[in-house]
Amino acid sequence: MKIIIFGANGRVGKELVTQLSERHQVVKVGRSSGDIQADYTDHQSITNMYNQVGSFDALCCVAGRDSDFVDVQKLELQHFKSGVERKLLGQVRLVLEGLKYINDKGSFTLSSGYLNHYPNVYSIATSPFNAFVDNFAESMAPYLLRDIRLNVVSAAPIVDEAKYGQVTAEMVAREYVKSTEGNISGSVFKIWNME
Ligand SMILES: NC(=O)c1ccc[n+]([C@@H]2O[C@H](COP(=O)([O-])OP(=O)(O)OC[C@H]3O[C@@H](n4cnc5c(N)ncnc54)[C@H](OP(=O)(O)O)[C@@H]3O)[C@@H](O)[C@H]2O)c1
Repeated sequence: MKIIIFGANGRVGKELVTQLSERHQVVKVGRSSGDIQADYTDHQSITNMYNQVGSFDALCCVAGRDSDFVDVQKLELQHFKSGVERKLLGQVRLVLEGLKYINDKGSFTLSSGYLNHYPNVYSIATSPFNAFVDNFAESMAPYLLRDIRLNVVSAAPIVDEAKYGQVTAEMVAREYVKSTEGNISGSVFKIWNME
C-alpha cells in the first residue's frame, strides 16, 4: 500500500514509519520535515500535498502539538482556537480533501486522545476536540463510499516506559497499523493501559 504518514517526524510518527515501511510504501509528511512539507491548517498546502502524492491507499494523521494545555483558571477563547484549527478542522480537512484522491478500500486513521474520558485541570482546551474527532469518525464512517474506512486512535499519555495509564509510542503506533491493515471502520482504537 501507499501510505501517507502525516506528522512522520513526531514521537508516534517515527515509530509508525518504522512499523509500516517494512511492508508498505510510506510517504512522510511534516510541516517542515519529511518527503513532502504540508500544514494541515492551510487548505492550499493540503491540496498541494495530495496533488504531489497522487492516488494513495491510506493516511495516518499523527501531527502533534495540536491543541493547548492551559490551567483552567487561565483559559481564554484564544486557547481553543489551536484545537479548532488543528485537531478538529486540520484532520477533517485531510479526510474531505483526501477523499478526492484515495483509492477504493482505502483508509484514514485520525488521532484523538483519552482526555475527553479522563479530563484534568489543564485539558479543557484539548479534551472536547478528542470527543469531536471520535464522533466524527464513528458517525461519518458508515456513509463513506467505495469501501473507504475511517478510524481514530485514542491514546493515553505517551512515555518512554509504559506504566498504568501511560503508553509508549511503539504501543500507540501498533494501533494505527491495526487500523490501516485491518478491515474495521468507524472505530476508536483505545490504547489507555488501564488494566
Ligand atoms: N504525546 C502524547 O502524550 C499523546 C497522547 C495522546 C494522544 N496524542 C496524539 O497523538 C498524535 C501524535 O502525537 P505525538 O506526541 O507523536 O506528536 P509530536 O511528536 O508533537 O508530532 C510532531 C509532528 O507533527 C508535525 N506537525 C505539527 N504541526 C503540524 C502542522 N500544522 N501541519 C503538519 N504537520 C504538523 C511535525 O512536523 P515537523 O517535523 O515538520 O515539525 C512533526 O512531524 C497527536 O494527534 C496527539 O494529539 C499524543
